[in-house]
Amino acid sequence: MSIEIAPSILSADFSNLMHDIDKVKDSGIHMLHVDVMDGHFVPNITFGPKMVSDLHKATLLKLDCHLMIDNPDEFAPEFAKAGGDMIMVHLEASVHIYRVVQEIKKSGAKAGLVLNPGTPVDAAKEVLPLVDQVLIMTVNPGFGGQKFIPQMVDKVRELAKQRDSLGLKFDIEVDGGINDVTIKDCAAAGANIFVAGSYVFDAPDPQAQVTKLLKAVV
Ligand code: DX5
Ligand code: ZN
Repeated sequence: MSIEIAPSILSADFSNLMHDIDKVKDSGIHMLHVDVMDGHFVPNITFGPKMVSDLHKATLLKLDCHLMIDNPDEFAPEFAKAGGDMIMVHLEASVHIYRVVQEIKKSGAKAGLVLNPGTPVDAAKEVLPLVDQVLIMTVNPGFGGQKFIPQMVDKVRELAKQRDSLGLKFDIEVDGGINDVTIKDCAAAGANIFVAGSYVFDAPDPQAQVTKLLKAVV
């Protein structure tokens, strides 16, 4: 499994987004993490499919789209059509998770499942054979800059164990409170894609921050 850092544009300057993306684009990354929030599923609002479509035109980086929205069953394919490479849906938000994952894949994107801190790995079992990626939230979703929940390390370990015993190949991503210390625990537990927002963009040199994260895990 390849190790990837996915800088989260949630912590970038929305009024000067490409300027901030340019700061990290040559740091050895291959994707940007794109947080979509609707003010219902989470208590914060960001943007919709147009942002994904505009970013798709503006950068060659892959777009790792994290949908924190109600009714993802209706909207997820829109984000795939807009140019999202990976579309991730919260298990807690979907009525027909199996169907929405199938629909995302039909639209030509990769499909991922997201689990909130309170959702057990077992709840995802039936869908695991279908997905390309599982995101374990390591904070409560909605905001950047929150504190990592250490109990989630065991959850990553449990998911990696289930994946291996089922002979599956999906990537395991972690999101929330990732820094040069927490990333090590998550990597040791079996995660290979690491979202980082405030650690990257709240620092004076975002590129150096990505390098520090990569150094911590390779
Ligand atoms: C939070 C978002 C994260 C956020 C992480 O709900 O899903 O992607 O940007 O921010 P940090 O890395 O600052 O915890
Ligand atoms: Zn996210």
